[in-house]
Amino acid sequence: MAFALAGKRERIISGGGGPEVDDRRARWEAVRLAAAGCQDCPLWEIGTQTVFGAGPVDAGIMFVGEAPGRLEDESGQPFVGPAGQLFDRALLDAQIDRSRVYVTNTVKHRPSVASPGGRKNRAPKQSEITACAQWLDREIAIIQPRIICCLGAVAAKRLLGKDFALMKRRGEWLESDIAPHVLATVHPSFVMLQRNSAEADWYGVLVSDLVRVRDRSLEIMA
Ligand code: URA
Repeated sequence: MAFALAGKRERIISGGGGPEVDDRRARWEAVRLAAAGCQDCPLWEIGTQTVFGAGPVDAGIMFVGEAPGRLEDESGQPFVGPAGQLFDRALLDAQIDRSRVYVTNTVKHRPSVASPGGRKNRAPKQSEITACAQWLDREIAIIQPRIICCLGAVAAKRLLGKDFALMKRRGEWLESDIAPHVLATVHPSFVMLQRNSAEADWYGVLVSDLVRVRDRSLEIMA
């Protein structure tokens, strides 16, 4: 059963409408449109489109990933490729309903390099992260999520500081002024890459951190 049920619980996950939510939606749409025309770093020239965040504008939980990959670039939606499918499965296993959370990225255009078989994803450069910071900051300011969950080191360092050590501190509730409750966990792409690792069950680690997110959201609502 998804964790957003009814009544009070339902409201914290995705508001419930009214003029305040309409106003947020209008502000979000204006920022989304502005981001669609962003040329503040060179990524716009090689990407198909800006991939802005998706989800209810009054979501109680925001997930922040790294940057769009090929399928996100083509569709304009975050986390729809292989890493997105793994993320969906982990959300389901943690009993979090994706339709009730807001999912976005640190960088909104796909970072890629030319390769013989077509363009390949690459990690975003610091200059691209810096150029894109305004969009994530505006999403957070509009949505004001009670819980932010950083997926991977790029999002964690962007939001929690460049010295943030993901592997030491993942799964902890962290002090931060970006939201009342902040946690960082491993990135779904990392989990995919470690699939055959005999050393650790990284999928289990991701799900257990997402369960902490779900449990905290239920505590906030209690
Ligand atoms: N897809 C996204 O939208 N973001 C990531 O960080 C990875 C894949």
